Amino acid sequence: MKILGIESSCDETAASVVEDGYRILSNVVNSQIDIHKQYGGVVPEVAARSHIEVINPVINKALQDASLSWENIDGIAVTYAPGLVGSLLVGTLAARTISLIRNIKLYPVHHIEAHVYANFLVEIGDGIREMGNEKWEMPSRQPKFPILALIVSGGHTQLVYFRNHGDYEILGQTCDDAVGEAFDKVAKIIGLPYPGGPSISEAAKSGDPLAYKFPKAHMQNAYDFSFSGLKTAVLRAIQQEVGVDITFPSTGLAERLNDLQRNNFASSFQRVAVETLVDKTVDAFYRFNPKSVIIAGGVAANQELRRILKQRIPIDIEYAPINLCTDNATMVACLGYYYAQKMPSIDPLELEVYSSLSMNKTKWN
Ligand code: KG4
Ligand code: ZN
Repeated sequence: MKILGIESSCDETAASVVEDGYRILSNVVNSQIDIHKQYGGVVPEVAARSHIEVINPVINKALQDASLSWENIDGIAVTYAPGLVGSLLVGTLAARTISLIRNIKLYPVHHIEAHVYANFLVEIGDGIREMGNEKWEMPSRQPKFPILALIVSGGHTQLVYFRNHGDYEILGQTCDDAVGEAFDKVAKIIGLPYPGGPSISEAAKSGDPLAYKFPKAHMQNAYDFSFSGLKTAVLRAIQQEVGVDITFPSTGLAERLNDLQRNNFASSFQRVAVETLVDKTVDAFYRFNPKSVIIAGGVAANQELRRILKQRIPIDIEYAPINLCTDNATMVACLGYYYAQKMPSIDPLELEVYSSLSMNKTKWN
């Protein structure tokens, strides 16, 4: 069964074809990072306009790269929540139109749940998948249920326990900022480019993780997260370091930091952010005893997070290649395949988008 996935929830326009819920036939991602870099973050209206410009070419290329025509596509999966409304509208409208005029079944997919399914994409055999000029190291087998998933992206931070496809429980989530958002905001304060995750982890390599001490938030539910206090603690420490008071604007701080201070702040922030994620995942691991532990979402690309989690959990930690951790449509197509096994397709005229929607609302068992 071949599913075309379409993703446009934030600043990536993506389309992919996945076969039988595991084999990538194509993966096209048009990133808007260069456009949003100049503003230090995603501008919703600009994002939506850019999606409109490229959505059709991106979808056509996904078919072309897979050497398929519309007759070969058995279903379309599209992200309908959560995300930027204007951006979601572009992807869903494209999917609805194609579904209607080509008479192909349509499956709406939850973006955060889809991130988890990047881990179900495998390459049987040596695990190497050639994508254009690139060679990706893919897992050669899928995770086993029950699965503990740490889902960490620019918009979400959740620990989820999956008993099976569509049968899961959210153990905890962030009460304020998502961890990726904290990376992005701290990067902006210390003068590193957007997106903050990769630039902080690069700067952190040359910094001292113990140069500054930041607090970890203690939550009533041990599996919940909070990152806004950490971000404020970094801000206060920088103000102190450069000798200004707390009313001094955060936008004026970066130019007062030298490279050593910048790297030390990046490294000390990353240490506490990563330890917070790891501590809670380790607790949940020993309480729920899952067969697989996976990390999903853009922050799963963080090498320190992977390294420390591996050290502290006695089973293999599973994660996708970096290109599949950040937003893409293969994960959408992959989840669409499992929806298609259990759920009816949706009338293309009925599909709506939701800027915020809990994964709990999409449970399909
Ligand atoms: O999953 P994603 O591509 O989009 C959302 O659904 O939000 O995640 C984007 C987030 C951004 O906040 C970005 O800074 C973060 O993932 N990110 C990283 C790394 N690469 C991307 N965070 C930490 N370390 C990285 N290496
Ligand atoms: Zn995402």
